[in-house]
Amino acid sequence: ADTLGAAAAEKGRYFGAAVAANHLGESPYTTTLDREFNSVTPENEMKWDAVEPSRGTFLFSRADQIVDHARSKGMKVRGHTLVWHSQLPSWVSGLGASELRSAMNNHITQVMTHYKGRIHSWDVVNEAFQDGGSGARRNSPFQTKVGNGFIEEAFRTARAADPNAKLCYNDYNTDGVNAKSNAVYAMVKDFTSRGVPIDCVGFQSHFNPNSPVPSDYRANLQRFADLGVDVQITELDIEGSGQAQATDYGNVTKACLAVTRCTGITVWGIPDKYSWRSSGTPLLFDDNYNKKPAYDAVLSAL
Ligand code: XIL
Repeated sequence: ADTLGAAAAEKGRYFGAAVAANHLGESPYTTTLDREFNSVTPENEMKWDAVEPSRGTFLFSRADQIVDHARSKGMKVRGHTLVWHSQLPSWVSGLGASELRSAMNNHITQVMTHYKGRIHSWDVVNEAFQDGGSGARRNSPFQTKVGNGFIEEAFRTARAADPNAKLCYNDYNTDGVNAKSNAVYAMVKDFTSRGVPIDCVGFQSHFNPNSPVPSDYRANLQRFADLGVDVQITELDIEGSGQAQATDYGNVTKACLAVTRCTGITVWGIPDKYSWRSSGTPLLFDDNYNKKPAYDAVLSAL
């Protein structure tokens, strides 16, 4: 196959990109998206501040643009994200414990119901663990007010809202074996042993010279898969250029393919100029939508 999506599909995987609604009118952007990818993740349009900017007022039009475009082209959609400490409106962080808990459950239910049947996997909870060696939960309104049980409660609410969507926990700096990924691993193991609904773990995989592709990346994906959940590479980007960047991209792709339950890869943007890493060149296409060496490495690894 000669596109990322078609090559991944031959291996039983999807290959996706993060998409911003405001670029869909740019013809080379949409041409590249439609040609190369078979899954999309809205980059910001499904976040809490975008879909429920004030309590009980849901605005889905920007996210709908992406979902409608994707589905009209036969692409699948990843939902990102329901419960996260960032891009969270201040009205949420201002609530007391019991109101926050009901606002969280209502948010999950309303958003998942709106997209019911149209999302293959949802990032139900994003980035709930701290960096560093503690393995502790991150300080957030959900953690401090609802408490340790907020993640479990979010997943149970999500399962009831759309029983056919895969429910994922998603995080960064969990790509190799380390204290943070050990803490996520312990949570997933606990959930699966107690029947808390969880189907997948997302590994954001934002790599740069300070945080390179770990040598035990494949082994880490595999140990999560061995718990009985799918794994997905959800926000891949790798700072760099040329052959070094290409080699890293090829290795990440091979790591996913080596793990039977690694069901797909999403890159966090299409051309370098629209990366959230404003000064970098971490993606597969240059600013003129030319394929970079990293693109060729991914395609030949698939
Ligand atoms: C980023 C977006 O790419 C930016 O446009 C936005 O300003 C901030 O968020 N982890 C995540 C993503 O889960 O939602 C983040 O996306 C990148 C880090």
